[in-house]
Amino acid sequence: MKTEIINVTYENLNMELIKKAGLVIRQGGLVAFPTETVYGLGGDGLNPDSSKKIYQAKGRPSDNPLIIHIADFDALAPIVADIPEKALLLARKFWPGPLTMVFERSDIVPVETTGGLNTIAVRMPSDAIALAFIREAGGYVAAPSANRSGRPSPTSSKYVVEDMNGRIDMILDGGEESQIGIESTILDMTTQPPCILRPGYITKAMLEEEIGTVETDQTIFSNRSDLSPKAPGMKYRHYAPKGTMVLLEGKKEAVIEYINNETDKKLEQGFSVGIIGTDETMNAYTAGFIKSVGKRTDERMIARRLYLILREFDDENIQYIYSESFEGDGIGQAIMNRLLKAAGHSVIKLP
Ligand code: TXA
Ligand code: MG
Repeated sequence: MKTEIINVTYENLNMELIKKAGLVIRQGGLVAFPTETVYGLGGDGLNPDSSKKIYQAKGRPSDNPLIIHIADFDALAPIVADIPEKALLLARKFWPGPLTMVFERSDIVPVETTGGLNTIAVRMPSDAIALAFIREAGGYVAAPSANRSGRPSPTSSKYVVEDMNGRIDMILDGGEESQIGIESTILDMTTQPPCILRPGYITKAMLEEEIGTVETDQTIFSNRSDLSPKAPGMKYRHYAPKGTMVLLEGKKEAVIEYINNETDKKLEQGFSVGIIGTDETMNAYTAGFIKSVGKRTDERMIARRLYLILREFDDENIQYIYSESFEGDGIGQAIMNRLLKAAGHSVIKLP
């Protein structure tokens, strides 16, 4: 299949091009498009064949449900069984934006889109290209992140092309790197209290300020294989770079010393080594490809750079990656969640 790559700019949205992309979706095709979190791989969410095609293009197991993207609040009611009061409050505050809410689904949503579940995940992105495209596409765009299954989500069109060229009909290239850089927060509204299934840019504290108590699915931080997360996708080792990745936890000095020693060993054995450090520690590392993910005090920047760095290590054929850890219950939690998954839960705790 030939993939058409179309450049769109934010300053001057070319509606002819957006209409063309929307038509591809309405005819059952697939179009990758930018959002403020990561690039999405879109198909018609109400067309079961489109959803099947998405799974094929990604190489993704079809029990892993898709998020339906909408552009207008009125589009929500037809696809859900009901809209809880708390969801209304959250939509008013955080939509359009990086929050996905899970609802009981209505009959018009095909099970192919929901991976067989009776619930449906819905998000209204804030990206201007995404919003215009969703409207032209008929209002319901099912979209996972636009990476091949198992790879880090793409935050620039370059990596969408790398993973999807030849597998989908069209790529809308927004020309800029994704503003947020990690996937949306997913909140299950079908339970009481609502439960965070995937941490993200919208933190627990931000949600609780609007609706009171919110829980977090604890299985997402655990590597116990007998617990299965409520968001089916969270069980897969995705977000992963090609190299073997290890996370280091402990005092700053101990982490630096450990990473420097391991790096020397691996380099001696002839392997290539990458290090994910921070502005605060960059200069303390002595060998390997050293990258700073940002300042520890600027978690938004860290979230934004994380996948880019993982992808760059792949570009450089890095075989071993050592990374510092992050903590907290804000965006740090989302960052750590993605790192844990990238490392397949390989963590070394230093005294
Ligand atoms: O920021 C984002 O959410 C991006 C952009 C493109 O919008 N999309 C994204 O989609 O990350 P994806 O498919 O890569 O991740 C969706 C996650 C998966 O872990 C999936 O299991 C979960 O959402 N999910 C989808 N529908 C669900 C449902 N009904 N119940 C529980 N989890 C659900
Ligand atoms: Mg994904």
